[in-house]
Amino acid sequence: MQYIKAPMNYIGNKYRILSQIQKWFPRKVDLMVDIFCGGCDVTFNTKANNHIANDLNFFVIEIYKEFQQLGIEKALAQIDQTIYNWKLTKENKQAYEQFRAYYNKTKNPIDLYVLMCYSFNYQFRFNAAHEYNNPFGKSRSSFNSVMRENLKKLQGVIEQVQYTSYDFREFDYSLMKSGDFLYADPPYLITCGSYNDGKRGFKGWGEQDEKDLYEILDMLSTRGIRFALSNVSHHKGEKNDILLGWRKAHKYHMHKIKFNYNNCNYHTKNSRNTTQEVLITNY
Ligand SMILES: C[S@@+](CC[C@H](N)C(=O)[O-])C[C@H]1O[C@@H](n2cnc3c(N)ncnc32)[C@H](O)[C@@H]1O
Repeated sequence: MQYIKAPMNYIGNKYRILSQIQKWFPRKVDLMVDIFCGGCDVTFNTKANNHIANDLNFFVIEIYKEFQQLGIEKALAQIDQTIYNWKLTKENKQAYEQFRAYYNKTKNPIDLYVLMCYSFNYQFRFNAAHEYNNPFGKSRSSFNSVMRENLKKLQGVIEQVQYTSYDFREFDYSLMKSGDFLYADPPYLITCGSYNDGKRGFKGWGEQDEKDLYEILDMLSTRGIRFALSNVSHHKGEKNDILLGWRKAHKYHMHKIKFNYNNCNYHTKNSRNTTQEVLITNY
């Protein structure tokens, strides 16, 4: 199957394991809620009559809302114009830094998208003052033809998604009814992720967040709503005991997923260092 790749390289995105996780997704879904949607690789590739994509990272949500509002064609024209106006290239560090300073004053979502395209590893990184602070992606990053094509493929897809930006505890779950489907891909308690250290302008992820999430998933389960939760059960000799205990107590299903985290400096040669990605479902 041909998947739609989100037009950004979102940290922790599930693009490479889509087929493995979707194997366990329900076939017929009226409403799908992707409660930690990130770059939306999962949202864009899951069939449902209606989609809600939510993430606390309102910068990314704003970009998608802007793409929706403008339409992909106009968004592309605006991106090209911005690249031209600011003379952005893979080599022009000065232009990148000037443009970044401009964005941090003006905060236009399309500008942020363009900035990210020329940044180191194509990442969204913000400081505690919510200023974008990712360095220049010298000789490597640009709005290239692959990203252009990925963006074009969103035409007709992105319009179907309703975007929200709430903390997962604040989301209005009364919108969901029995038979609907929630996908949860939270920051992982026991692994890395630059949005996960509390220093990037977003608060980190701790044990209380983990427990609050499981409480919500239990509540949805009692309402007949199906959920799938991505997580990591084992990592570098550590175990996520909260996850494993909760799963066992509720007899939820646990499916093992093969994931090669080559972005994150993981060493998997030694079995003590193995990272086990899992998908927990209540159906
Ligand atoms: C593993 S990433 C999701 C990646 C996504 N599935 C994809 O394919 O791109 C986890 C996401 O959770 C978001 N997040 C962190 N804390 C949150 C919270 N309290 N409420 C909602 N979203 C949160 C982060 O901004 C991040 O985008």
